[in-house]
Amino acid sequence: MIEIHNATTIDGQRSQQNIPSTTSRIIDANGLTLLPALIDPHVHFRTPGAEYKENWQSAAEAAIHGGVTTVFDMPNNTPSCITLERVREKKTRINAQLQIPIRYGLYLGADQNHLSEIIRCKQEIVGVKIYMGSSTGNLLMHDPKVLEQAFKIAGEHEILVAVHAEDEELIQKRSIECKAALHLGPRAHSIIRNAEVAARAVNQALEWAAKYRVRLYIAHVSTQEELDLIRQAKKGNVQVYAETSPHHLFLTTKLYETLGTLALVNPPLRDTNEPVWEAIYDGTIDTIGTDHAPHLLEEKRYPYGKAPSGFPSIELYLPLLLNAHAQGKISLPQIVRLTHTRPKEIFHLEETDDLVLVDLAKIKTVNDLHLKTKAKWSPYHGMTLQGWPRMTIIKGQVYDVDL
Ligand code: DOR
Ligand code: ZN
Repeated sequence: MIEIHNATTIDGQRSQQNIPSTTSRIIDANGLTLLPALIDPHVHFRTPGAEYKENWQSAAEAAIHGGVTTVFDMPNNTPSCITLERVREKKTRINAQLQIPIRYGLYLGADQNHLSEIIRCKQEIVGVKIYMGSSTGNLLMHDPKVLEQAFKIAGEHEILVAVHAEDEELIQKRSIECKAALHLGPRAHSIIRNAEVAARAVNQALEWAAKYRVRLYIAHVSTQEELDLIRQAKKGNVQVYAETSPHHLFLTTKLYETLGTLALVNPPLRDTNEPVWEAIYDGTIDTIGTDHAPHLLEEKRYPYGKAPSGFPSIELYLPLLLNAHAQGKISLPQIVRLTHTRPKEIFHLEETDDLVLVDLAKIKTVNDLHLKTKAKWSPYHGMTLQGWPRMTIIKGQVYDVDL
């Protein structure tokens, strides 16, 4: 049994908690605040095929340092995770790598030549991921007929569809039209993949979700245009859920000035975070997925056009939110809703005893050298944040993460 004494709850009460465990431990949590452990519904832990960037051992370390005990991993692996056999093989590999017992679910990647796999995989996956626009890996489905077919199948079999909503045709068209922007270097990325690119794909996905009664999860929403469409759909009878990412809450296109190609991510950074914060306040955003997407620094430093997109971030997920709390931008109940309650409801997860004890007063500066991710860098290096996890408890095991 683990006994936690004197912790403070999110509404300021004193609490006393007992957690079943094979070990016995008494934790004096005086001065610490107790939160349900976080669920990160969007990670890229790189197995199989890119274990040199990350594996489930380093990623699990990073996760618990961010207060996360449950993750859903994306299918853009090498090879892509597009069949039942690949899903099963991926699980075997993950289980062989895992030492910290984090809980995980997998997405199946939708592939135009393997649509029937969506049905075969139903019991093994949290949903099917559709890349409507290209990103890291080979997964891409942009033929409208095939896309619609995937939605139809998912609707008939009650499988959640998660979309990377960027319209590939428009990306290609704008890549040619915006040639003049290329002299701006990586900054052109945010110009080419503009708000219209995202909104067009969201609009299309919402239409099919309504037509085929699909539960639609829109990943990394970042623009006013997408949010307007999602608000409208939520007022109707479309079952749509919106995720945003830490980088769309805390970073903007200003980052290109200091980080250049390191600031590349899909969907790209925007000029402002304001619409996303507004959508957190009015409840339009349901979840925050870190989109933890590690690439090595040397890869990120390739020239624009060759450098991969994505940021490692899972271990800073909770510190970034707690820092926003310290700045008065978000309440603790709002953090719990976004990082625990809504993902649990959307993905029908069972309640667990997993907890995280945080020190709301602790101030520390992010130092990439101390990160647990194999990639050993983040776009948050040098930021001073207030509010850090102290202990993460998963399946009755206590991990001290105050390092
Ligand atoms: O920036 C991104 N990186 N966006 C994605 O959609 C994929 C991810 C990755 O896997 O690197
Ligand atoms: Zn992603």
